Amino acid sequence: MSTATTVWITGLSGSGKTTLAGELVRLIETDGASACILDGDDLRKGLNSDLGFSREDRAENVRRVGEVAILLARLGNVVVVPVISPYCADRDLVRARHLDAGVRFIEVHLDVPLEICEQRDPKGLYAKVRAGQIAHFTGVDDPYEAPTTPELRLSPGAAAAQDAQTLLALLR
Ligand code: ADX
Repeated sequence: MSTATTVWITGLSGSGKTTLAGELVRLIETDGASACILDGDDLRKGLNSDLGFSREDRAENVRRVGEVAILLARLGNVVVVPVISPYCADRDLVRARHLDAGVRFIEVHLDVPLEICEQRDPKGLYAKVRAGQIAHFTGVDDPYEAPTTPELRLSPGAAAAQDAQTLLALLR
């Protein structure tokens, strides 16, 4: 497997990005390559703790995560990035930066409809949104722009382990 790759997983909150990322990293490591996860939720606790969810802050969040991904990928890792990244323009900028840096960029759209994400509600956030405790939530009262030509689009139905296998085949 060629390293120096970022696998960018975009999708709504609750779509299963983090679970898929975990499964993929496990498979890549079993394959003998180095992999790591840059999780949007984790990064927002530290590096990006000064950022909120305005249009500008989301752009800066995605930019920073993209830059860290490039650094880690150039060290020989497959970097797996589960981040909502709701705007096409922001993701396209990250893609362009990767191409400039000679790092392969694979955009994966975890295409799970809002209704399913809301039913799952793993962090109880959609309940808070509907109770009026969180505003500007992606997919509810804030935009989500689906990628038009991602390298891979995954629909709900398959288990995360199976989706990770599909992705791994794309990486080889
Ligand atoms: S992004 O839009 O800037 O790409 P990111 O992936 O870093 O988002 O963080 C999303 C996570 O922040 C969600 O999974 C959820 O746990 C939390 N969150 C809190 N408020 C919001 C909001 N208004 N919109 C989306 N996610 C939110």
